[in-house]
Amino acid sequence: MNPIELHPGLADVPVAESAISFIDGHKARLEYRGIAVETLARESCYEETAYLLLKGELPTQRELADFDDQLRHRRRIKYKLIDIIKCLPETGHPMYALQAAVAAMGMFYPARDVTNAQSNWDSAVRLIAKLPTVVAAFHRLRHGDDAITPRDDLDQAGNFYYMLFEREPSPAIRKVIDACLVLHAEHTMNASTFSGRVTGSTLANPYTVISSAIGTLTGPLHGGANEEVLDMLDEVAAAPSVQAWVDDAVAKKKKFMGFGHRVYKVKDPRATVLQELAEHVFAETGRPKRYDLAVELEAALAGILGPKGIYPNVDYYSGIVYNALGIPRDLFTPIFAVSRVAGWLAHWLEQLQHNRIYRPEQIYVGKREQPYVTLEKRP
Ligand code: CMC
Repeated sequence: MNPIELHPGLADVPVAESAISFIDGHKARLEYRGIAVETLARESCYEETAYLLLKGELPTQRELADFDDQLRHRRRIKYKLIDIIKCLPETGHPMYALQAAVAAMGMFYPARDVTNAQSNWDSAVRLIAKLPTVVAAFHRLRHGDDAITPRDDLDQAGNFYYMLFEREPSPAIRKVIDACLVLHAEHTMNASTFSGRVTGSTLANPYTVISSAIGTLTGPLHGGANEEVLDMLDEVAAAPSVQAWVDDAVAKKKKFMGFGHRVYKVKDPRATVLQELAEHVFAETGRPKRYDLAVELEAALAGILGPKGIYPNVDYYSGIVYNALGIPRDLFTPIFAVSRVAGWLAHWLEQLQHNRIYRPEQIYVGKREQPYVTLEKRP
């Protein structure tokens, strides 16, 4: 009988005390530092939200202006980093490029002394400012285009869109991108955040912390889901009817991408607010057929998944919105990372406040006290 109990996936096992975000999975409630995420998505902006996550309080007007200024002036990436990105295979996934570029970025900036609060803050600002530039640069370069120099007269959302498409977004498009950045910025102790905290607990430098988190986000059960939602909707569109596809998927015990969440047992509040903001964009871009299909599929699955507490999560609709904006599928998860970096960094700073290296237990189930048989005596 083992004295310790195994909790697969660490479900229900707290791994830290945290004051950054809170979820009530039964009431569809997500708060950043106590403020409802829907309010932030509608009324705040990504810059203010990032400051709130990092510092724990909303900024004054002056603090926000100063933070915004710091971000705008740290967007450029070193030409050597552009050279590194140019050498990466253009057919590779942009998440791998982002992870590699962030790890490499750590070689350009002094950040090893994580007891230095000013250096930690500078690293945090630099990472939030530069991640969009890396994603946009890889995207442009892989198509044979020059990377676009970031503009300092645009906000985070507007500049990101500009670096991708070489044109400014309309106000409605800028707002929905900004809201997506706010909605994905933080989400309690999920896999990538935990991974970043584990790396941070070794006192590794922040670029390594963030590249660990980016690597964890690549998986289809985590950040990669919004890309797979679109693939799934392509399948649904090709089926004779939504119901026929659902019947077949249920019979084959398929997993419905963009549905389900370890914590939410009702519809993810981020999905609801995203749908609301998406309507403004669709008024400009036209209502995508995939969106109507997604709404129809949600209704068709409600009776099957609803009783199990499985509802759409944020990724169910975010991909459709990005698709309507002309953003390619493999950039969906990098955009998640461009946003979530604020939450990861807030957790890294929190971890350092009362750090103890993560060193969990295991339940050993292998053989013991085996003889070593020399190679020539083995069959
Ligand atoms: N489709 C069909 N059945 C599901 C789904 C789904 N999307 N999600 C959960 N279930 C079923 C699952 O088969 C299991 O059934 P049973 O008890 O009969 O074996 C039960 O619900 C519990 O599922 P689980 O996989 O043990 O739940 P979990 O908390 O470990 O996983 C999850 C949560 C998000 C990984 C899972 O719901 C899933 O794989 N969803 C699809 C992928 C997805 O949309 N991921 C994005 C998550 S939101 C963004 C983020 O946080 O990264």
